[in-house]
Amino acid sequence: MTNDAIKILRFLRKKEKGAMEIPPLEKRPRHIAFIMDGNGRWAQRRSLPRSAGHAAGTEALREIIKACDELKIEVMSIYAFSTENWNRPIEEVNALMKLITKYFVSEIDELHEKGVRIKILGELERFPEEQKSALEKAMAKTRFNKGLKLNIALNYGGRAEIVRAAKAISEKCRSGEMTPDQIDYDALSNEMYTAGDPDVDLLIRTSGDMRLSNFLLWQTWYAEIIFNPLCWPDYNRAALIKDLNEYASRDRRFGRVKVK
Ligand code: FPP
Repeated sequence: MTNDAIKILRFLRKKEKGAMEIPPLEKRPRHIAFIMDGNGRWAQRRSLPRSAGHAAGTEALREIIKACDELKIEVMSIYAFSTENWNRPIEEVNALMKLITKYFVSEIDELHEKGVRIKILGELERFPEEQKSALEKAMAKTRFNKGLKLNIALNYGGRAEIVRAAKAISEKCRSGEMTPDQIDYDALSNEMYTAGDPDVDLLIRTSGDMRLSNFLLWQTWYAEIIFNPLCWPDYNRAALIKDLNEYASRDRRFGRVKVK
């Protein structure tokens, strides 16, 4: 995608009109997870290659990171590449890899200035050297930042993450560092890639599909879920604020009855 094409994409992004009120901080989620779905359909509807959908999706991502930062969301987790995505056509996988690296190389200074802390959820071993090094640099550069925590799930699978945590705990029991009766929710949470983060309060999946697709299975146990019909490239700040209002209106009971 050329720089001119990126300029056009930015120009075409709908500007916010008649903005909705933003819910007060205490009614906003601490941790939002996004399944950025619908890039391919967005492109196909415009007779464009799927890679153009991913490029347009990157522009939406820029806007939503900025919005989450301004709205004082503590943690934002995004599903950028699942363990299952390796099964896509090789051209699409390569295009996604290139986009992800380009994004980190071109955006890292701005993210760092904003105080964003980048963490990768998933195993980077399978990534080509160029991608791996860009991602590792981004994590290292921002590791002491105190602003928005941006978790990027890459080569990530929720079940694999739980198995990995179970193995780590078994190893600690085997070595005598802990005993089986010390295994509790916190012990497992501390072995997840998201250790130290609050559980997901709100999961937003765009494009209308209604499933979790193996994303943050442990962390979403009591998350509120919104299935937004917009394709990810059309998702913007106004759509996020609408979803935050929906979240603020929900009655989160965590299995209890409502206390009046
Ligand atoms: C799902 O849409 C989207 C993905 C598999 C990739 C998400 C990636 C981005 C938004 C781009 C860049 C990411 C970073 C971190 C810079 P889909 O292709 O499954 O859409 P479809 O369901 O309509 O086919």
